[in-house]
Amino acid sequence: MNLSAETLEKIDATIAQFPQKRSATLPILHLIQEELGHLSLETQEWVAEKLGVQPIQIREVVTFYPMYREEPIGKVHVKVCRTLSCALSGAYKTCEKLEEKLNCKRGKTSADGNYTIEFVECIACCGSAPVVQVDDKLYENVKPEGAEELAEEIKKMAAAEATNAAETPQPQTPAYFG
Ligand code: FES
Repeated sequence: MNLSAETLEKIDATIAQFPQKRSATLPILHLIQEELGHLSLETQEWVAEKLGVQPIQIREVVTFYPMYREEPIGKVHVKVCRTLSCALSGAYKTCEKLEEKLNCKRGKTSADGNYTIEFVECIACCGSAPVVQVDDKLYENVKPEGAEELAEEIKKMAAAEATNAAETPQPQTPAYFG
């Protein structure tokens, strides 16, 4: 498994904070997901070995908490709140519009790998319902009729991600070493 030296260092430092290694499970999974984007079965086995537990014990944690992912996600992660205030304000229609404009079904990643759309529960911004979170950015009052505009912005984000990725020097290339 390819983790950066920085993440490996953070993992060891995190484990050292707990009297029992297994208590570090959640923060370690966060650290790894932050870098790799998801937690594959191979990754979970690696964590299990690192913490001296069975792989199933790590899988139980990964599949229990909705913030962990076993599958890779798209370049842009779109989360539409569907809890009461948002649902009553049109979140379902907003989500359908985003699905249509981004050509991506909720719960799935688009075929081009650009978007993942998910329904999520309350993200604590109920007064501005319906609310959509795109990566780390929150969009409030996203009525169905405003979803088209948001979809356009999301498309630009995916395009910018692709450009950034193309410009990031790859390991073992001259550009990587400056
Ligand atoms: S119900 Fe959507 S943010 Fe709370």
